[in-house]
Amino acid sequence: QVKQDLVGQHWVITAGPTMEAIDPVRFISNHSSGKMGYALATAAIARGATVTLISGPVQITAPAGAKIILVKSADEMLAACEQSMITQADVFIGAAAVADFKMKAACDQKMKKQSDTDEITLTLVKNPDIIATLAQQKRAKTLVGFAAETQNVIEYAKSKLERKGLDIIIANDVSRADIGFNQDDNQVTVITKDKTWSPDKTTKNALAGQLVEFIQQQTQS
Ligand code: C5P
Repeated sequence: QVKQDLVGQHWVITAGPTMEAIDPVRFISNHSSGKMGYALATAAIARGATVTLISGPVQITAPAGAKIILVKSADEMLAACEQSMITQADVFIGAAAVADFKMKAACDQKMKKQSDTDEITLTLVKNPDIIATLAQQKRAKTLVGFAAETQNVIEYAKSKLERKGLDIIIANDVSRADIGFNQDDNQVTVITKDKTWSPDKTTKNALAGQLVEFIQQQTQS
């Protein structure tokens, strides 16, 4: 029996990739599986939280008991987050792999192959930084981000914590093939303003339980 210490709390979690339209049939996206975000939602629900899971397109089933909002683009994800936190949430976790860029202007019609050219140029513009926007708007009491890095993991994660105005950042080294993207296992370092904690490598499900515990304790302090 899991302790029910999150009863009455609202946790909002983003998960999966975003999908940015190029035209009606093509898109820009990434390999995020959604596993970490879905596991966090499951762990928070198990402890009694009311969970809104805002998810990009993934191949996994929604956790029982979550309010799930399916989105595609980063713009849609941001709008869904703001809608879900009109009343300030207790915890926001940004586990989604948000595309950094979107088309400056997605085409209304399918782009035609031009027979006279071997090259085309797509103009991309930056997507909104969802978690930084939510932090600025104080949409949640505690905001938790992820940092997928391939080098200087701790250092880059720390600067991300500051720059985005977060309370906790969960850093992982995505250059390792055995953890991270689309793997069932993960190993992370959890960083706050004054603490650094590296739990052992374990399944995303087990890790999610430990992370929810850490986040819950952090909200108490
Ligand atoms: O800047 P970077 O993409 O490395 O930051 C990762 C963290 O920021 C994750 O928590 C991710 O969900 C969030 N993020 C976001 N909106 C973006 C880019 C990243 O919320 N446009």
